[in-house]
Amino acid sequence: MDKMVIEGGKRLAGEVRISGAKNAALPILTSALLVAGWNTFHNIPDLLDIKTVKKLLKSLGVEMEGEETLRINAGAITNCEASYDLVRTMRASILVLGPLVARMGEARVSLPGGCAIGARPVNLHIKALEEMGAEVTLKEGYVEAKARRLKGAEIYFDISTVTGTENIMMAATLAEGTTVLKNAAREPEIVNLADVLSGMGARITGAGSDVIVIEGVERLHPCEASVLPDRIETGTFLIAAGITDGDVRVVGCDPSHLDALIVKLRDAGLRIDAGRDCIRVRGCGVPRSVDVKTLPYPGFPTDLQAQIMALMATAGGLSVITETVFENRFMHVSEMMRMGADIVIQGTSAIVRGVPRLRGAPVMATDLRASASLILAGLAAEGQTVLSRVYHIDRGYQQIEKKLSALGADIRRIPG
Ligand code: UD1
Repeated sequence: MDKMVIEGGKRLAGEVRISGAKNAALPILTSALLVAGWNTFHNIPDLLDIKTVKKLLKSLGVEMEGEETLRINAGAITNCEASYDLVRTMRASILVLGPLVARMGEARVSLPGGCAIGARPVNLHIKALEEMGAEVTLKEGYVEAKARRLKGAEIYFDISTVTGTENIMMAATLAEGTTVLKNAAREPEIVNLADVLSGMGARITGAGSDVIVIEGVERLHPCEASVLPDRIETGTFLIAAGITDGDVRVVGCDPSHLDALIVKLRDAGLRIDAGRDCIRVRGCGVPRSVDVKTLPYPGFPTDLQAQIMALMATAGGLSVITETVFENRFMHVSEMMRMGADIVIQGTSAIVRGVPRLRGAPVMATDLRASASLILAGLAAEGQTVLSRVYHIDRGYQQIEKKLSALGADIRRIPG
């Protein structure tokens, strides 16, 4: 297993280009299951999770060619089962469930099971499919769903769920009648997916609000579409500039998706100038402490909670960071404390008292965003940080060490 070695204390400067969003690319790729024929998707990021979903789709008989621009054809689906081996490495594999049932009338998908950041069940995906007339059984760790044709239904999600909304929105495109999703998730990735589905001929209104209406159609046709820029990667680079007191231009991003973070970074004292598709961020010496609470979009993203905690660990006061989306998403805390951070966990909050200097240390990545936060802490720390289990970061950040090196960071990957 590779490791990342970081010599901290370098100020980042220059320009960095943002890749396509992992969390948009994953449902967009599985949406290809809804149609026979060659779709063309642009701006597909080069990530471990994308390799996993491609492997999964290939195991279903989907053909594909290309990388950043990917042509993909589910004209001949030969298998409706997503095996445990593929699903266990990536929860988002559940995103094949809705499209497969809608198009093929059946699907068998391994339950994702527990994962590092909490139980993360898929009960809401299953309940919604049942409400659309699917017969769903749980057998030997698999969800089996069958329906001759799904029926439109009014579905209320009692928790805002991103992949749940995506799964059911995809399923509803081919259902008989109209489906109304209430308390739907509002993330930009959902709007991106809805645009792709509309390009395929689906009838969808309201994506981006908490009520989405999908009028089912008999069939969809292939389309050409682009994946939006990754807002979590963007946010991570904004924080990287702040934590190193740097001056960075983040280009090819969409600042309008990052209001919640930008407000907090400005409150912390960072200077931020946002254009249409770029953001210049300048450090302010020691940042001020700010309190943060994660929420579904447009609130502060849980996927940036660990990263802003790294910034707060170096700030000039006391910050309370509250996680409301996932239980058990503070695994980075004990690793950051090994680097000298002063953090106490109280229930769902982390009380972070900024310290003048973090110190480099050997640390271990426990999940994707936790690894990003440890890299950030390493960039700010005095001395050397060695991050192990780097495969977590490769799931969601395209060539992070190359992008950071180009900005002047001293970071290198060593094969394990
Ligand atoms: C997606 C993102 C992930 C992000 C998360 C929250 C993808 C591929 N992943 O994950 O990066 O951290 O949104 O922004 O887009 N829940 C249930 N039952 C369900 C479904 C969810 O109880 O059937 C709960 C979860 O346990 C969690 C909350 O709802 O507490 C939100 O989870 P959800 O929005 O579904 O997260 P994901 O879609 O898995």
